[in-house]
Amino acid sequence: MAVERTLSIIKPDAVARNQIGAICARLEKAGLRIVAAKMLHLDQQQAEGFYAVHRDRPFFRDLVKFMTSGPVLVQVLEGESAIARNREIMGATDPKKASPGTIRADFATNVEENAVHGSDAPETAKKEIAYFFRDDELCARTR
Ligand code: PPS
Repeated sequence: MAVERTLSIIKPDAVARNQIGAICARLEKAGLRIVAAKMLHLDQQQAEGFYAVHRDRPFFRDLVKFMTSGPVLVQVLEGESAIARNREIMGATDPKKASPGTIRADFATNVEENAVHGSDAPETAKKEIAYFFRDDELCARTR
């Protein structure tokens, strides 16, 4: 198994409910290491750019509105198979379909206000990390 990096976002709904600590605890418990983090309030252009792949979907405008509605915590997670591992503990996009014990089953409200984002593939992870972080903002493990 390879050590990978993935982009995680704790979305405005979870930040507003003071669930950052509880969600980060799940990530760390799953063996994922936080190697970069920043709290941001995305503007429309940043949110539209990040979700550009969904721009033709009917929910795009609402998604951008939601993602700009309050601060988010953007993080880079590192670990063995970090991309798949993060997706596994996040659970399905729609919390109604998420397995019990997953982050979305426990913290999400609905398919839009679903608490967390995680990159879905190595190429996407690379692009998404570069969207928010410079290389020198990623902190390697020191011991
Ligand atoms: S899909 O339908 O398989 O393309 O969905 P997915 O790639 O898992 O996620 C699309 C992102 O858009 C957000 N979103 C919605 N998805 C589906 N339906 C509705 N109505 C909707 N509203 C918002 C969803 O939370 C995904 O966000 P991210 O941040 O990528 O998890």
